[in-house]
Amino acid sequence: MGENRREFLKKMAIAGAGMAAMSSPLFHSVSAAGNGKAIRLGIIGTGGRGRYLQEHLYRIKDEGSKEFEIVALCDNYKPSLDISLELAAKYKNAPKGFSDYKKLMKDGGVDAVIVATPLFQHAHITIDCLNAGIHVLCEKSMARTLDDTKAMYDAHINSGSILLIGHQRLFSDKYNDAIERIRQGELGIIGQMHAHWHRGNDWRRAVPAAKPHLERQINWRLYKEYSAGLLTELMSHQLQVANWAKQDIPVSVMGTGSIRYWKDGREVPDNIAAIFEYADGTQFTYDSQTINKRYGCEEEIIGDKGTFELETNRYYNVIPPKPKPAPGIAQLIGDIQKGIFEEAPIGGPSWAPETQKRQKAEPIYVGQKGDGTKEELINFVRFVKQGKYPEWLVKEGYYASIWTLLTEQAIDSGAKISMPEKFRI
Ligand SMILES: NC(=O)c1ccc[n+]([C@@H]2O[C@H](COP(=O)([O-])OP(=O)(O)OC[C@H]3O[C@@H](n4cnc5c(N)ncnc54)[C@H](O)[C@@H]3O)[C@@H](O)[C@H]2O)c1
Repeated sequence: MGENRREFLKKMAIAGAGMAAMSSPLFHSVSAAGNGKAIRLGIIGTGGRGRYLQEHLYRIKDEGSKEFEIVALCDNYKPSLDISLELAAKYKNAPKGFSDYKKLMKDGGVDAVIVATPLFQHAHITIDCLNAGIHVLCEKSMARTLDDTKAMYDAHINSGSILLIGHQRLFSDKYNDAIERIRQGELGIIGQMHAHWHRGNDWRRAVPAAKPHLERQINWRLYKEYSAGLLTELMSHQLQVANWAKQDIPVSVMGTGSIRYWKDGREVPDNIAAIFEYADGTQFTYDSQTINKRYGCEEEIIGDKGTFELETNRYYNVIPPKPKPAPGIAQLIGDIQKGIFEEAPIGGPSWAPETQKRQKAEPIYVGQKGDGTKEELINFVRFVKQGKYPEWLVKEGYYASIWTLLTEQAIDSGAKISMPEKFRI
């Protein structure tokens, strides 16, 4: 994306409002300018993700940003807090450490926090912070229940504090470029979208042998009380992308899921599949499983003029038909003569092989670096600094979270589920 295109996207973002006008976020690079007081940041939940974000923030500072300082870290599990304090020391940062987020709110001196606790610990921490005038970047998915998700959004509206949800693809150049191209009609009519996230492992974290009672705390993703498993932890990202590409939210979802393979005491499905329908009849089909990673993670946006495969940055235009295609039946006879088939498969004169054609992809975006996490952090700091931000960003996070939990309902009930009106924002 050249500089002009970036400028264009910036203008679009400023003009944009609501789900119907979603576009790129505002900022793409680190500013070296001090520009007033540095934002004082805290991180609540310094486990795997919290520390990953902490390290990203130090790297952004190393690139010259003077816009923020990490002043407080909080985790109620001492080993996690200790490792993040060690990480801070490595980067010559000396934040205060807390085991209780309420103490951090009172004594941490923070303007804003990143909440990277397990899903069931998002809502009350986020709501308390927003109500206290502390801006929040909360990891996805928003909350464990629909009501808590709505309560988080309402707290943002009522307090005026910024709430951003950690769907980092919203800040990736590649995704922003693709969405803009979809919006300008490059893929034509989007008829179907498909995404999947396939993993080939049990998704477990090691529990210290001497402390088996920590199982549910450490492996919270596997237990229904704390998480909806693959839905909230993985699908939430890709459903956000589908809604963004479609510039809409679904009207219904059907789903299925089971514990097919990892019968190890977990409560969440190890494989799921869901079909979402949008108002114009477009479908988004989704599947995730944990026994074979061959097909990895992908979002396919399929239009009558072309296809995007977003995770792998691939664009395919639709190949125009050749002037005089060989009739399918002639090809079939040829295949039999060449010994490809021994006998004729059932098919009429229009039969033609429909196995995938080999076609060279073009990159959607040249020069993509990272997955948007760095830009998400840069933007959050800027939003806090300017005290406002594009509201459509929180709506993206909100609806991805709501529809993720509705998918859980569809799987549990076997019914086709729509969104109750009280969750519309
Ligand atoms: N955006 C992404 O791509 C991405 C990737 C991974 C994880 N995440 C999200 O980040 C969040 C955390 O995931 P994780 O993998 O780091 O989990 P984790 O278990 O590694 O870390 C969570 C940490 O929160 C701490 N914690 C729990 N309750 C707390 C409380 N009340 N106060 C303070 N600390 C508390 C735990 O002790 C733990 O150290 C989840 O919401 C997850 O979905 C997002």
